[in-house]
Amino acid sequence: MIRFENITKVLGGKTVLDNITFEVAEGETFVIVGLSGAGKSVTLKHMIQLMRPDAGKVIIDGEVINTLGRSALQAVRTKFGVLFQSAALLQWMTVMDNVALPLREHTHQGEVEIKKRVIEKLELLGLADAAEKFPADLSGGMQKRAGLARAIIMNPKIVLYDEPTSGLDPVTSRRIDDLIVNMRKELGITSVVVTHDLHSALSIGSRIMMLHEGKIVENATPDEFIHSKNETVQSFLESQYITKKGKWETGLTHE
Ligand SMILES: Nc1ncnc2c1ncn2[C@@H]1O[C@H](COP(=O)(O)OP(=O)(O)OP(=O)(O)O)[C@@H](O)[C@H]1O
Ligand SMILES: [Mg+2]
Repeated sequence: MIRFENITKVLGGKTVLDNITFEVAEGETFVIVGLSGAGKSVTLKHMIQLMRPDAGKVIIDGEVINTLGRSALQAVRTKFGVLFQSAALLQWMTVMDNVALPLREHTHQGEVEIKKRVIEKLELLGLADAAEKFPADLSGGMQKRAGLARAIIMNPKIVLYDEPTSGLDPVTSRRIDDLIVNMRKELGITSVVVTHDLHSALSIGSRIMMLHEGKIVENATPDEFIHSKNETVQSFLESQYITKKGKWETGLTHE
């Protein structure tokens, strides 16, 4: 469904993505990990061509998209919902209006239908009571969920998440993880999740790909990932106290 073929991207004289090839299959929750600056966000941006590659192909549902013009690209983008690192909600609008925004911009639906669709998504995310609140009156976790409601309001096939749990406490983070898993179970959505949080990666991912110095150093199931022989992967796992059983080594637990 998403395929990167020999993608290279140079930014500021640095080869951020160095001839990388990988695929995300339909229905997967595909997790991308790596140190800060590894190119995770740059990879996500290529999926919707917010960045164009210097070489290679980005293929979505069999269509090469990095050579498409503006309007054809716009059509491809409707397949995606995006929750970016700074999932900024517009502060002067209620949650209802924030989530309704894409419907008002991209459809000709009437207000009654729009409200109905927004409420449906807010209910799915446990935010029905927050419809008339403003972002400043929500907790961090609620803001992320409102951002997620907005990302899925157009019923996308694929949702891209950039650090969906950053800045959240562990309990709220696990709740967001559950929501990402539910997106697949209940709506059949394919997810690509960028995260620093390996515990979350291991619990939600169907595959985990690690980027390091422009290359893919691992692309494997969670179980294979924690047993990876790659030294970069091993030290990444150790830095988060993960043993080969995928558990915390320190006695802490997230169950
Ligand atoms: N628009 C840009 N212009 C120049 N350099 C950029 C640009 N965007 C990203 N970079 C560089 O590309 C590299 C990868 O950036 P990217 O944002 O993908 O990292 P990341 O893996 O998402 O890191 P983090 O975990 O900190 O979000 C970094 O060295 C960054 O400075
Ligand atoms: Mg990033």
